[in-house]
Amino acid sequence: MDNFIFKADSLYCEDVNIRDIAEKYGTPAYIYSKKTLEENINSYKNAFSKKDNLICFSVKSLSNLSILELLHRNGFGFDIVSGGELERVVSAGGDPKKTIFTGIAKSEEEILNGIKKNILSFNIESESEMYRIESIASKENKTVDVAIRFNPEVDSGGHEYIKTGRKKDKFGIFLDQIIRFVEHISTSKYLNLIGLSCHIGSQIVDLNDYKITAKYIKRLAEEIDKFGIKLEFLDLGGGLGISYSNLDTPTPKELADIIEQELEDRTEKIILEPGRSISGNAGILITKVEYIKDKYLIVDSGMNDLLRPALYQAKHDICNVEKNTAESSEWNIVGPICESSDVLAKDFKMSAKEGDILAIKTAGAYGHVMSSNYNTRRRPPEILVDKDQYKIIRKRESYDDLFKNEMEIED
Ligand code: LLP
Repeated sequence: MDNFIFKADSLYCEDVNIRDIAEKYGTPAYIYSKKTLEENINSYKNAFSKKDNLICFSVKSLSNLSILELLHRNGFGFDIVSGGELERVVSAGGDPKKTIFTGIAKSEEEILNGIKKNILSFNIESESEMYRIESIASKENKTVDVAIRFNPEVDSGGHEYIKTGRKKDKFGIFLDQIIRFVEHISTSKYLNLIGLSCHIGSQIVDLNDYKITAKYIKRLAEEIDKFGIKLEFLDLGGGLGISYSNLDTPTPKELADIIEQELEDRTEKIILEPGRSISGNAGILITKVEYIKDKYLIVDSGMNDLLRPALYQAKHDICNVEKNTAESSEWNIVGPICESSDVLAKDFKMSAKEGDILAIKTAGAYGHVMSSNYNTRRRPPEILVDKDQYKIIRKRESYDDLFKNEMEIED
């Protein structure tokens, strides 16, 4: 359930008419519902009945500072994958001590900054990374907390591009190599093993994938027990799928139940790293129909604003923000970008005329964060609705913003 609903003939976000926002801030624009975010936050807060847990919001899915601040105020930690995301967490008032750093290409600068900021853990993804963290820690004369991100070789998730836990994927450390890492870390003066982590993919709708992963994590934790190491957490990553149309998807509570069942005998804290299942249905992208040509609804937002349809052939539900008496027909909804892949929806049945505003739904996750300036387009603003109020939380870029880092050729 989200809070984008029709009241009479107009689409509202909570108690705000979407048309009012479009008139004030123009299109395209991202609009988020605070109530939906809070409902999703609460469903994670109430998911676990027994186990101590920490929910680390995956910053990459929606990284606006105001949204991160909301999550922090609700006690959430953060899953980050870059130095930039760490800066965002800190700027939003988030707690580095509740922040885990994943990612296969952590630079020296990023590691040093993470160490200085005292993050909860680096999730190690390769042998070379382990030695790099150890060497930087020794120069800083600090013992650094780390976890091993393992690759459970589970084939899960939606599109090919968002699967991460298979043997052919670049992420994590394979099961048969983990013990080598444990042996090294257990003798290191500068590394302290505090957890095991994994993330098997995104848009996962079959909880059995998590069950299998939980079994692996349990088995590995038992192996690590033999070293006399007491782990602090077991991190099962993010990935819980959401409905983009009428898909029946598991809830955070159902996910937590499975994990609690499988890890009943373990005493470690459970960490989850949800992104999409918190931010996805909390956002829409509004766009105006500029022209109609044959079967094309040509709108003012494109793949530079919302990349998912072009990159993953993702299907987002779309509606006209005003109920419309125009005859409905099947449209190809396309954007202004000079690429034939700039299609937001194919053969989509709706009624629309030039000048109408459309809402592309479930665009809160991997929407604005994946936008770009391609075709020298300004990235859209972000607006947060709270009951009958709304506030701009990121301005539309200006052309000056786009050009400010570019230099003139010197004579
Ligand atoms: N943790 C790690 C280590 C991740 O790599 C990700 C997402 C998450 C957590 C959060 O996953 P979520 O709960 O949001 O599924 N751009 C793609 C999704 C890429 C996901 C990348 N990793 C899309 O638009 O579908």
